[in-house]
Amino acid sequence: KSHLNTNLIGKNLIVLDSVTSTNDYLKTLGAEGCESGTLVAAREQTKGKGRLGRVWQTKKDDGIAFSFLLRPDLAPNEITGITPLAGLAVCKAIRDYTGIDCKIKWPNDIITGHKKLVGILTELSAEFSAVEYTITGIGINVEHTQFPQEIAHKATSIFLETGKHIDRNDFLAVVIEYLERELLTNDLRLTEKALKEYTSLCATIGRNVSFFRNSQQLNGVAEKIDNNGELVVKLEDGTLHTVNSGEVTVQGI
Ligand code: BTN
Repeated sequence: KSHLNTNLIGKNLIVLDSVTSTNDYLKTLGAEGCESGTLVAAREQTKGKGRLGRVWQTKKDDGIAFSFLLRPDLAPNEITGITPLAGLAVCKAIRDYTGIDCKIKWPNDIITGHKKLVGILTELSAEFSAVEYTITGIGINVEHTQFPQEIAHKATSIFLETGKHIDRNDFLAVVIEYLERELLTNDLRLTEKALKEYTSLCATIGRNVSFFRNSQQLNGVAEKIDNNGELVVKLEDGTLHTVNSGEVTVQGI
């Protein structure tokens, strides 16, 4: 805590030994009115959540798991910048701190090669069409040397990639500083500058992707990311389709 150098994110910092899910824990604090920027980190999650109802495991001291809460003064359709900005910040932090050549897999996984290093899950609480708060949860694989069999072929860790053990407290402080800078300098929005940077670090662009429309599978090429952080896919017939983060399969990664 002593070396955390931020004004908003993590100013109110809660570190837990064990928790079900830092997102869920923070949701309770959010309902109780905790201040914007509150951050909860845990050494272990017993019921960590991934996107699309998946499980995200954090065992004692193998990864970094944390969530932060924001109370943005924005409508639900205006908060689409938070997750891509968070992904961009974490990607840059890992590149600078570890030297790993990681990329963003749209919408918000961080991968290296075709293996995942980081997952991000944003949830929001909205009432009367105003956003009450957003919770962004980030899980980073740090010390893992193995993964459950089902994901072993598509997951990796900082240790597996570099052969080095990093100081997790120090690295967490760096990640939080990158997050604060990216979110605040862009005013929580996917600005032109941030979008350009996101695009240059995005491994999905130019790849073959498939998605479902009206229960039909469509195949195309990921063309670009738009201002809302959505993926624009070009089909073989030349038409452009905007896909949101539901379920897209990217081939090769
Ligand atoms: C995904 O890739 O599907 C998203 C994974 C998000 C995991 C993080 S770990 C901290 C926070 N707490 C949770 O329960 N999930 C997120």
